[in-house]
Amino acid sequence: MQTQLDHARLGSGEDLTIVRVDAPDEALGPEVRDLLGHKGDSWREHIRAALAGETDLLETRFYLGLIDGYPVANVMTVERHGFGLFGHVFTRPEHRLKGICRLVISAQMECFRSRGGRALLLGTGFESPPYRIYESFGFRSIKGGEMALCEGGIDAATQDWFAPGPAEVVEPRWEHWPLVSVLAAIDTGEPLRSVGWEIHDIQLLEAPYCSLMYQLGRNAPGVSARILAAANGAVVGCATALPSRDWPDVFQVDVFTHLNFTVYTKALLEALPLPSGKLIAATDRMDERKADIFRSCGFENEGTLQTQYRYRGEPRDILLFGKVNA
Ligand SMILES: CC(C)(COP(=O)(O)OP(=O)(O)OC[C@H]1O[C@@H](n2cnc3c(N)ncnc32)[C@H](O)[C@@H]1OP(=O)(O)O)[C@@H](O)C(=O)NCCC(=O)NCCS
Repeated sequence: MQTQLDHARLGSGEDLTIVRVDAPDEALGPEVRDLLGHKGDSWREHIRAALAGETDLLETRFYLGLIDGYPVANVMTVERHGFGLFGHVFTRPEHRLKGICRLVISAQMECFRSRGGRALLLGTGFESPPYRIYESFGFRSIKGGEMALCEGGIDAATQDWFAPGPAEVVEPRWEHWPLVSVLAAIDTGEPLRSVGWEIHDIQLLEAPYCSLMYQLGRNAPGVSARILAAANGAVVGCATALPSRDWPDVFQVDVFTHLNFTVYTKALLEALPLPSGKLIAATDRMDERKADIFRSCGFENEGTLQTQYRYRGEPRDILLFGKVNA
């Protein structure tokens, strides 16, 4: 579905029309795919699936700048329950520095606010020209080039969202993409949440979760995940098995939960389909709770690595665990 949002005369004398395309939409599909054709496989697969109506309850919106009906610029958001990821910001090279990106983001922001949007997350180069553009719209760094737009800051604004309550383990879906990203973007107080996704403190999961959905869609060997979802729809935990980046036929297992939902951590790990072969896991040495959960699921301590990573600026040791899954 397409909605015209705005119209502007550029300094170049050209007329810019800004439209919002709500996926699914096959009509503008080929043009959106052409504009964003330089993106990698997993991003292009999400765009294809969203335009074809294959991304469950995820809300994908493309904000396009058109000149003579032809898309020259884009901003994409993916949202659920008012939380979103903001990305694919692109202006065709021949139309740059005409103010188009700023106009498209202005229209997108007005739309997000009018719908009662709660928070947006993005990743870019720290203090790069795009970083400055996003900063001027109210995004603030949560870690280097990872930025959030959220009244009062993302940690404070999500306290009610993560209030304790019942939760259930479900299969990963596209709608979880922005929601697991919010969980990973706040400092829950759990150190070393995921080795596979490098969540040492906080991390933007925009690329890792898109890649996960892409790999699950292709039945990639050794890749599995489970989501812990609260009654209000919040993603409050996630477990993954991913092929080790360092070792063939070895799989990295991770599990993390918001601290209000740790009663479910073991059930979440037990629900994760585990690949056959050698499984490895790691916990912060101070995190006895999670170490006990890995032990109770048959993982054995195989060693310690000292001052292996930093949490909240402090060097920390990690415990390594292993298990052979027949
Ligand atoms: C970044 C990008 C989207 C900007 O698009 P654009 O339509 O040229 O941007 P605008 O003309 O609206 O410029 C917006 C502001 O950014 C500034 N700006 C844009 N590109 C800049 C650059 N390369 N260097 C310095 N400033 C720049 C403009 O001067 C303008 O500043 P002002 O509003 O304070 O006057 C475009 O350069 C692009 O597509 N780059 C490649 C993809 C990319 O990097 N995307 C961002 C990924 S996070």
